[in-house]
Amino acid sequence: MAFDLVFFGGTGDLVWRKLMPALFQAYRHGSLPEGGRIIGVGRDDLSDEQYRQQIQTRFEQVEGEKRPNSEEFARFAALLCYVRMDLSKPESYAALAARLAERETDHVVMYLSTAPSLFTTVCEQLAASGLNTPKTRIVLEKPLGHDLASNRAINTAVGQVFKEQQIFRIDHYLGKPGVQNLFAMRFGNALFEPLWRREHIANIQITMSEELGVEKRGGFYESTGALRDMVQNHALQLLCAIAMEPPINAHADAIRDEKLKVLRALKRWTPETLTQHVIRGQYAAGNVDGHPVPAYRDEQGVSPSSNTETFVALRTEIANWRWAGVPFYIRTGKRMASREAHIEINFRPTPHDIFKTPVGQVNKLVIHLQPKDGLELHLFAQGQSKRGQGGGAALSPVHLDLDFDKRFGSERVGAYERLLLDVLDGRLNLFVRSDEQEEAWRWVEPILQHWTADPVGPRPYAAGTWGPSASSAMIARDGFCWSEEL
Ligand code: BG6
Repeated sequence: MAFDLVFFGGTGDLVWRKLMPALFQAYRHGSLPEGGRIIGVGRDDLSDEQYRQQIQTRFEQVEGEKRPNSEEFARFAALLCYVRMDLSKPESYAALAARLAERETDHVVMYLSTAPSLFTTVCEQLAASGLNTPKTRIVLEKPLGHDLASNRAINTAVGQVFKEQQIFRIDHYLGKPGVQNLFAMRFGNALFEPLWRREHIANIQITMSEELGVEKRGGFYESTGALRDMVQNHALQLLCAIAMEPPINAHADAIRDEKLKVLRALKRWTPETLTQHVIRGQYAAGNVDGHPVPAYRDEQGVSPSSNTETFVALRTEIANWRWAGVPFYIRTGKRMASREAHIEINFRPTPHDIFKTPVGQVNKLVIHLQPKDGLELHLFAQGQSKRGQGGGAALSPVHLDLDFDKRFGSERVGAYERLLLDVLDGRLNLFVRSDEQEEAWRWVEPILQHWTADPVGPRPYAAGTWGPSASSAMIARDGFCWSEEL
């Protein structure tokens, strides 16, 4: 299958940090279709050769095993070329059209890894130069807008030029192997589904914590914040994967229809829940991995009086028969105690306790997404004959630990590799439909509006911790706690 993959923003951070290394892995695994060409588009005046050299230099920063040796790079580099473009100028698109016309392909993928403010212009110009043919696919990187109105404006503009089946909205969390295994666990096994409901589950916790701060993205992050950067997209997609009904088949729209229903069933905010169930924080100076790190307000590109949140913890519910009354907690933040993404399903205690279970502990299933990728099922067992208080036998916590990295090893495919291969293959399952995205913005907007009117601002937390204490207090009010507090 011959393809042309065009990276708008071809000299940008995402291309060299994530996309090129992912393509290289696909190439190395032999899964990149033959006959491909990768075209970087940028403002710099570069020849194909200079672009290849630039990518090669950048590859030197890629983690050890994933880095190509020079012979491998030389073979991969043969796929790379470069077109200089000013994305606001129609004549630039003519240059791209000429380059694309050099050969016959089955598909042309336009990957927009630029500022979202350019999405509309690029789509209009692609249409004006006849580059929106039926064999074209367009990939849109987040953030797709800043709020519901801007998201809709982008979706409308793109929708005027491309059909929904040609539009691939990326949420890289959906490409993570752990998330695909969550779908496999739920819908490829009969074991958990009968338990997957309010009668058996006490609460669900989604944690996505990072050790890194805003790095060099202070300018971008200032007007974004954790709610838009992580909750509106990644966290809500994870929540959908956990809470959705089994789809009628494995086709993209069957899956997306079910996710949409979850988003529509998210409990609407009230003034009380906005105050009590949403906590925002901002990191102050602290220590991460034993090294002192500055406060968010002292980061490059950040205002010294910034009120941008670098941490969010919230509680919500899903108003349907399966989930009514079960709290779903989401928390995410930068400069936290460790880098982790996991989902905890906490089951209800036994209805009648004849043994002595350890205080505060319950059966739980932990779905690890990163850095480890696997499942952990926490149970109780009788390891010793010691009697508990009151004479009953004391149980000890034990767990079944399934490590997918160990099990599948080198067969594992990274998130961007998976998603890029899916785009080339035309598979939309792991991409987000416009109505899902709009529904997610509709739910997030009242929080944004509440914060705009709230003079208090985010609560400070020391870098290297699990966020402000209000986050623990929020969950404690329901009689639960975050896992590290057990
Ligand atoms: C991105 C956010 O979408 O996800 C970043 O813009 C964040 O701020 C990143 O660091 C986290 O992704 P991952 O895969 O490292 O958890």
